Amino acid sequence: MEKKTAVGIVGGLGHIGLIQAACLAKLGYKSIAYDINSAKIKDIQRGKMPFYEPGLEELVHETMDNGLLVFTTRVTDLQEAEMIFICTGTPALPSGEADTSQVYSAIEEVARHRSNQALVIIKSTVPAGTCRKIAAFLQERDLAARAAVVSCPEFLREGSGVQDFWKPSRIVVGAPSRETAEKVAGLYSPPGIPILLTTWENAELIKHASNAFLASKISFINEIALLCEQVGADIRVVSRGIGLDPRINPHFLEAGIGFSGPCLEKDLKSLLRQFQEAKKEAKLLEAALRVNEEKRREIVHKLQAKLGGLRGRRIAVLGMAFKPQTDDVRDSHSLPIIKQLLSAGASVTVHDPWIKSPREGRLAENDLPGVEWASSPHAAAQGKDALLILTAWPEYRELDLKQIKDCLAVPLIVDGRNIYESGQLRELGIDYQGVGI
Ligand code: UGA
Repeated sequence: MEKKTAVGIVGGLGHIGLIQAACLAKLGYKSIAYDINSAKIKDIQRGKMPFYEPGLEELVHETMDNGLLVFTTRVTDLQEAEMIFICTGTPALPSGEADTSQVYSAIEEVARHRSNQALVIIKSTVPAGTCRKIAAFLQERDLAARAAVVSCPEFLREGSGVQDFWKPSRIVVGAPSRETAEKVAGLYSPPGIPILLTTWENAELIKHASNAFLASKISFINEIALLCEQVGADIRVVSRGIGLDPRINPHFLEAGIGFSGPCLEKDLKSLLRQFQEAKKEAKLLEAALRVNEEKRREIVHKLQAKLGGLRGRRIAVLGMAFKPQTDDVRDSHSLPIIKQLLSAGASVTVHDPWIKSPREGRLAENDLPGVEWASSPHAAAQGKDALLILTAWPEYRELDLKQIKDCLAVPLIVDGRNIYESGQLRELGIDYQGVGI
């Protein structure tokens, strides 16, 4: 394969960083993944991945073996790269504001260790206006000649990140000049994929507004689900009927316990803060957040109502990950829901196909005190007063529900992801409660 120029990736061990690094290496670029976590770099070099993402492990091994993907803890190793991707985290501060300090310090560090100018391409999700502020920050420190800022938001989803890299929905690049934007878009632009070259602020806002729209779509369908339960309608059919309109489309119209995970809620809160700072109201987005927060309380209330209280009740919870095909529990709804069950006096046994212990879920031992971890859904259900579904894992859809009923002490399933057919469960004599059905 033709060897292309070198690219640098700062935060090369995170979800976005590692996918970016491995895929660019697969394309023939020498990918220099820089991260301060030397222990994790050693783990990768020994074959242990920092997280699971379908197809990524094979890609990392292949590109490391052919020498195109290299890991380093030395920022000076980035010198040979003309384009450097910033993929550090922007976690939420207690106010909801995105903490961009890692982005600033990464860019300053890169700039201070260069002799020529690099394009620093921000993949991290940052509030609108950040690139402009960083450019001024570099100017004040006399570093503008060593780093030029570009915004290139990432739209990949966990669980299909590698696939999304190869076939992105669009490529958005925000830069002060068209020439710079074209250079970045030219790194990888598969045929047929729309490319939007624009300003810093437009690119930054496209990312936030996209996540906020997806979040709002989920809250919209979850609000309609409330009415479905009152009027005897089935949200799954209603949702299908709505999504058949091509102007609406069927995606992100699955009702349930709402959106969770490390992105949608964080980005929605960050966007709300941006409205606050601009002294503008965001009534619709505030409502989307409130509806979502209410959803996780609602599912616990349903269980409580069915059981006539939760004190002393034994609950089996299926699903810890924030969605299927990932082992990520960061900001998963499962955590606050289990905490609510525990504080109401219930005991909880959990199962997740990919997370078999607090350590595998990268949870602190005392995050979920007293919770038991079961090796199978059947083991979790054994002798319990209810089964609560929180993640729509395909294997849960395939369960032999007759066997599950025989395991349960009380034949009750509360389904936060609407994965079963109510009629079939009723025939089996299972009391079934979904969301909006
Ligand atoms: C989201 C966006 O979909 C990506 O485009 C974006 O790049 C990413 O955030 C990011 O900013 O990094 P992700 O967080 O991986 O991706 O997960 P989603 O597939 O968006 O799902 C988020 C949550 O919404 C999950 O809890 C999922 O179960 C829930 N969801 C999704 C629903 O409740 N209903 C739906 O119809 C769809």
